[in-house]
Amino acid sequence: MRTGFSDYQTALVTGASSGIGAATVRRLCAEGIEVHALGRDTERLAALSAETGCRTLAVDLNDLGVLTRLAASAEFDILVNNAGQSRRGTILEMAADDVDSLVDINLRAVLHLVRLIVPDMVRRGRGHVVNISSIAGHYAFGENATTFNSSVAYHATKAGIHSLSQQLRVDLYGTPVRVTEISPGRVATSIFKNQVAADNPDARFVGGFETLGADDIADAIAFAVGSPDRMNVAMLEIVPTFQVVGDLRFARRTELSGADNA
Ligand SMILES: NC(=O)c1ccc[n+]([C@@H]2O[C@H](COP(=O)([O-])OP(=O)(O)OC[C@H]3O[C@@H](n4cnc5c(N)ncnc54)[C@H](OP(=O)(O)O)[C@@H]3O)[C@@H](O)[C@H]2O)c1
Repeated sequence: MRTGFSDYQTALVTGASSGIGAATVRRLCAEGIEVHALGRDTERLAALSAETGCRTLAVDLNDLGVLTRLAASAEFDILVNNAGQSRRGTILEMAADDVDSLVDINLRAVLHLVRLIVPDMVRRGRGHVVNISSIAGHYAFGENATTFNSSVAYHATKAGIHSLSQQLRVDLYGTPVRVTEISPGRVATSIFKNQVAADNPDARFVGGFETLGADDIADAIAFAVGSPDRMNVAMLEIVPTFQVVGDLRFARRTELSGADNA
């Protein structure tokens, strides 16, 4: 029986310059995979390459022309759609650019990479797509959305990743190409850096909490990718032990705001 790792030779990991992506590059390189590490930060990519031997791709995922050329430039056995951005705030106060950035990076680029890379996997009879969604794509968060990494646009893009993962498995039915969705809860990475109070950067999101580490998610990806061919790890939801999702709100009439109650 073949196993995934022995069969797969190359990988493309997006968002490789930090956090979960960098940990995934380290993990896959350790398994002997030739990893193409994609991000925008050339210094961090160069450091990762010096450490792991990965190839680097300084690419902005907004650039469809570059993605098209990239897909044609190599045969990828593993595609890890990991790059993502987050924004603070609800849709009630969100700027137009923030909505566009979230949709473009978290969802549009993933759809294009799947469109560009997966047909070649099917042709070659070998491939594995790993999509990083989020618990934000599966649940509404009861806490104030301005406190957590849970703008409605972020939730919507991650729900899109869940949906495309589900449908991609249907589209690939009968082929050996596998699709895994990894849905993490809170992981200590720099994704929260652009949305924390200046006076106490990490404590609100990471520092004061028992979170997951990027390696935990990389290990889960390695488990899915390394599983025997007969086994498709379709979806993994991975949360810190001390984090749960679950809330029900029901406002009293006296608490309602709006014109009718003014
Ligand atoms: N951390 C969590 O708690 C958590 C929970 C659930 C899901 N996730 C998801 O996990 C994934 C990885 O996030 P992370 O936590 O590891 O955050 P991170 O450390 O901030 O990493 C995000 C990565 O995305 C890349 N990226 C962002 N915009 C890009 C663009 N326009 N073009 C190319 N690359 C771009 C960044 O690269 P450059 O800086 O080099 O551009 C960076 O390498 C994301 O999809 C995130 O939504 C994270």
